[in-house]
Amino acid sequence: MTTQTSIGRPLAHSCRRTTVNWLALMRICTVAAFSLCLIVVVLGAYVRLSDAGLGCPDWPGCYGHLSPNAAAAHMGTAGETVDGVAGWRGRPLELGKAWREMVHRYAAGTLGILIACVAAMALVRWRERGVPPTLALALVAVVMLQGVLGMLTVTWQLQPLIVTLHLLFGFTTLSLLWWLVLKLFPEGTDDLIGRPDTRLPGTVPIVARRLALLALVMLAIQISLGGWTSSNYAAIACPDLPTCQGQWWPQADFRAAFVLWHSRELDYEGGVLDLSARIAIDVIHRVGAMAVSLVLLLAVGSALRQRANQRARAIAVVVAALLALQLTIGISMVLRGFPLWLATAHNAGAALLLLALLALDHSLWSRDAGTVRSALNVFSARWTGRLRLKSTGSA
Ligand code: HEM
Repeated sequence: MTTQTSIGRPLAHSCRRTTVNWLALMRICTVAAFSLCLIVVVLGAYVRLSDAGLGCPDWPGCYGHLSPNAAAAHMGTAGETVDGVAGWRGRPLELGKAWREMVHRYAAGTLGILIACVAAMALVRWRERGVPPTLALALVAVVMLQGVLGMLTVTWQLQPLIVTLHLLFGFTTLSLLWWLVLKLFPEGTDDLIGRPDTRLPGTVPIVARRLALLALVMLAIQISLGGWTSSNYAAIACPDLPTCQGQWWPQADFRAAFVLWHSRELDYEGGVLDLSARIAIDVIHRVGAMAVSLVLLLAVGSALRQRANQRARAIAVVVAALLALQLTIGISMVLRGFPLWLATAHNAGAALLLLALLALDHSLWSRDAGTVRSALNVFSARWTGRLRLKSTGSA
C-alpha cells in the first residue's frame, strides 16, 4: 500500500502537469492562430481593395520567384520577360502590389502551419479536454480549401465568385478559430487547470436564442453581398447616399447582377458588369444593411432582457456598438468617395461584428460559454506566476 501511494502520487502529479502544459500550449497556439487569421483576413481585403490581387499573376511564386525582389532582379524591362518566358499575361511587375500580395501569401502560409499544429494537438489530446476533434478537422479542411481558392483567385483572374468564396471562407476560418477559443476558455475557468463551471447562464428563452441565430444567418448573407459588391467593383456605381445616381430607386438590372458564373477567359480586374447590374448589387447591399440591422437590434434587445445572464447582456452591448460602427464606416465610405483605408476598415468592422455575434450566440446556446474576460485572466495569471502556484497547489 505504502509503495503504491509513494509511487502513485508523483505519477499522478506528473500526469496532471503534462495535461496542463498541453492545454496551455493549445490555448496559446489557438489564440495566436486566431489573431493571425484576423490579420490575414484584413490584409486580404487591403490587397483586394488596393487592386493588388494580381500583383503576382502566378501561384504559388511571384513571377516564378519566392519574392518580388528576386523576380525584379531577373527581369529586364519590367513585364517583358521573366527568365526568358514572355510576359505573365502581359502584366508588368509592380513591386508595391507584388509585395502586398506576397506578404498576404506568407502570412496565410504561416497561418496554415499554425492551424495544422492546433488540429494535431486537438486530435492527440481531445479526450482530456473534450475539445471536439470535428472542429479541428473542419479547420484543416477549410484552410486547405482556402489555399485552393487563393490559387484560383489568381489563376482565374479575379473571377467574382472565387473572390467572394475566398472572402467567405476567410471569415469561416476566423469564426471556427474564434469558436475554438471560446471552447478552450470556458466560463468560470480562471486558470489553466479548467475548474468546473460554477456560473452557468440561466435558462435562456428560445426566442432570444433563435433571434441570435437568425441574426447570424442574416449577417453571413450581408457579408456575402459585401464580398459580391467588392469583387464586382460595384462600389462606385452608387456614389451618393441615401439615393443612388440621384434617384431613390435607380434603373437596376437585378438579373445580370447575380449571374454567378462567367467565362474563365476574362480578366475581371476592374469588373465586367454593366452599370445597371452594378447598381443592383449596390442597392441590394444597402437594403441588406437595413434588414440585418433590424434583426441584429432585435437580437440585442432580446439578449439585454436576460437578467440572469450578465455575460450575454455585456456581449449584446458590444454587438450594438459594433453594428453602429460598421454602419458609420459604410456610410462614411460612400460620402468620402471610397478611400482605401475606410474600405479596409469596413471589412475589419464586418469581421469584428461577426465575432461579437458568434460570442453572443455561444453565450445563449452553449452551457460552457466562454468569455474574453476568462481568456485574459488565463494570460494575466500566466504572466504573473499565479498559475504556477495554482497548479502546484492542486497537484
Ligand atoms: C451590417 C452592415 C454591413 C456589413 C456587415 C457589411 C459588410 C461588407 C463586406 C464584408 C464587404 C466586403 C469588403 C471587402 O471587400 O473586403 C462590404 C463591401 C461594401 N460595403 Fe458593406 N456592409 C454593411 C453595411 C454597409 C453600408 C451601410 C454601406 C453603405 C451605405 C456599405 C457599403 C459597402 C460598399 C460600397 C462596399 C464595397 C467596397 C469596395 O469595393 O470598395 N456597407 N460590406
